[in-house]
Amino acid sequence: MWEKTLTFTSTKLPRGTIYHALHQCRIGTLALFEGINDTAYRRQSHPEFSPAGWHLGHIAFIEAYWILERCAGKPPMFPEYHQLFAADGLPKAERENLPPLAKVCHYLDTVRTEVLTYLETAPLDQQERLWRWLVQHESQHSETITFVLQLQRWDALGIGRRFGTGKTPPSLVPTLQPAAGVIEIPAGEFIRGNDSLDASDNERCRHPLHLDTYYIDRYPVTCGQYREFIAADGYRNACWWSLEGWQWLQENPVAQPLYWSADSAWDNHPVCGVSWYEADAYARFAGKRLPTEAEWEKAATWDVATEQQRLYPWGEEFPSTSRCNHDNAVGQTTAVDAYPTGQSAYGCYDMLGNVWEWTDSWFDGYLGFKSYPYRGYSQAYFDGKHRVLKGSSWATRPWAMRGSFRNWYHPGVRQILSGFRCASDRLL
Ligand code: AVJ
Ligand code: FE
Repeated sequence: MWEKTLTFTSTKLPRGTIYHALHQCRIGTLALFEGINDTAYRRQSHPEFSPAGWHLGHIAFIEAYWILERCAGKPPMFPEYHQLFAADGLPKAERENLPPLAKVCHYLDTVRTEVLTYLETAPLDQQERLWRWLVQHESQHSETITFVLQLQRWDALGIGRRFGTGKTPPSLVPTLQPAAGVIEIPAGEFIRGNDSLDASDNERCRHPLHLDTYYIDRYPVTCGQYREFIAADGYRNACWWSLEGWQWLQENPVAQPLYWSADSAWDNHPVCGVSWYEADAYARFAGKRLPTEAEWEKAATWDVATEQQRLYPWGEEFPSTSRCNHDNAVGQTTAVDAYPTGQSAYGCYDMLGNVWEWTDSWFDGYLGFKSYPYRGYSQAYFDGKHRVLKGSSWATRPWAMRGSFRNWYHPGVRQILSGFRCASDRLL
């Protein structure tokens, strides 16, 4: 239906690239709802997160608001959905009373048809950044849909069982080799951040930064490594935990990561579903610490040979499923050494895909920060209460992936697809 109305499909031009991204992104978003029953569609699986179906309606709402109202100057479409699907409309707990999936799909389709008609003649010289932001907005909500739907399956399965679809492709069978390797990052200047049209407001302004020599793990911390922390009663020993972390643990008495399996077949997969506090405690247990955001970004993107910043760990090539585990292609984590072609110049694996990685840094604005497209996108979270996560997960859509990308959550959140890697000042 979309193809018929469109006269531009060349991805060599911004209009074609945007069309293609909108189209591909939407296919993936809708695929997440295949075989999903009405209960799963509307149920809120955790107080911090909205129901899956809400995110779907919100995607349409944002598209209609920014493109049709703000750019095209049209009157509000489906004004009856404004309160329900605006981010500042209803409290999350009141978002379960949703129209049926078919109606929300109709909403998405109707908005999209208008949007694509407008795209044919839209002044992209002024709007390209907004259109690129829009694709990334859907991408990000698409990842949230993935984990809130899986949270419900997890709840149904109960503790002790691995989250995910359970399919492990033959080529990605855990190798069971102990994940090891520490990489030295020699002192020196690098460049971080991103000023391109794809960059979020919080990635600007790109700037040079000097870091002293440090060491960073080649791989994210694996389940096998983390098992030692559990076995050593790490969850019962305050000495590994920060003050706030220990307090968090008393209020949230957990004894293993959220998406944990006792099966050693997962030993070479990264830990997934930990809060910042758990990551921080493990790092101390291992005699290390979490990397700062800058340390993570340098290890992921700096090419010391050419003195160039890379867009992705492997270079400039758009993410593909041969470079890293992303976009739901596998549907769960993979062994940390499964993607040698995704290594950074320094030799770090899994800097994109597999699991998000907690860093020691609080989320804040870089020098020259300017809110875009609205204050509530990033700036509202510069409150000293959100930690930066870097990288991306097995569920992240490719348009929202790059070395400079910054994600942020409260340190107590573990429902996201979060893991971590360790760093240190000295070689142990
Ligand atoms: C960057 C993932 C924390 O989902 O809350 C979506 C992205 N902002 N709509 C979120 C976002 C507005 C945001 N995260
Ligand atoms: Fe949003």
